[in-house]
Amino acid sequence: MASDLNRVTRGEAIHEGKAKIIYATSASDLLIQHFKDDATAFNGKKKGTIANKGICNNAISSHIFSLLEKEGIKTHFVEKSGERDMLVKKLEIIPVEVVMRNVIAGSLAKRMGVEEGGKLAFPILEYYYKDDALGDPMINRFHIRAFNLATDKEMERIEREAFRINEWLVAFFDKIGTTLVDYKLEFGRGPEGVLLADEISPDGCRLWDKQSGEKMDKDRFRRDLGNIPEAYDEIRRRILGAG
Ligand code: ADP
Ligand code: TMP
Ligand code: ASP
Repeated sequence: MASDLNRVTRGEAIHEGKAKIIYATSASDLLIQHFKDDATAFNGKKKGTIANKGICNNAISSHIFSLLEKEGIKTHFVEKSGERDMLVKKLEIIPVEVVMRNVIAGSLAKRMGVEEGGKLAFPILEYYYKDDALGDPMINRFHIRAFNLATDKEMERIEREAFRINEWLVAFFDKIGTTLVDYKLEFGRGPEGVLLADEISPDGCRLWDKQSGEKMDKDRFRRDLGNIPEAYDEIRRRILGAG
């Protein structure tokens, strides 16, 4: 209800992460995700800032989350409450990073000893334990069960949702001249069950121009490719232009 949301005010910072600050709000069940320009890679070993990244990532994520909601995917998104602020439902984040891959790149290319760019016959879903100190190691469903990171029921839902999200996102990016190579999703549990959380932006996705193959995501920062703010801005322009 817009009138209630208008009265939600920003409280104390409760977590400062690598790319965002999470604020409490006057509503106990809502948080504000504040998007910074700070960028890190290789588990924080490389640090920098990307001009206006926070503004781009908030605009991109807010737009994608609202479109996913229309597709019946339940997310933490409530509204874009400022240029860098997203009002979200407060969740307990499940410490499992869900990586979906459509094209061979990054650590998959390294692990399998192949070149980047090969299309996969079907998407690959991988899990990583969300723990910065350990460098987010890869895990599987057995680790998740044995270490009680999530229940089997939660994981079945996450897996189903991840494939639904992937099908929609691949088609969406394709329509705007962009290949969705791979990306990371996070989910959290709350009163409404398991919801898609965090962000979907060029920080956590590999996005290649369909024609030229040019990288338009955080790999430009990781690999010192230059024109980084321009790439984020171009992705924002394509996404917001997509309606
Ligand atoms: P990190 O903590 O990995 O450095 P960020 O800078 O992106 O990452 O900080 C945002 C933090 O907020 C992440 O740890 C993410 O899991 C968490 N988060 C995202 N959405 C929610 C939510 N709806 N409720 C609670 N925490 C969330
Ligand atoms: P990877 O090839 O390095 O494993 O990354 C796969 C995708 O997941 C890539 O789009 C970047 C994203 N990702 C994150 O956003 N955060 C992470 O901590 C990791 C490991 C990957
Ligand atoms: N998100 C991780 C980091 O900030 C890994 C990466 O994106 O390269 O270090």
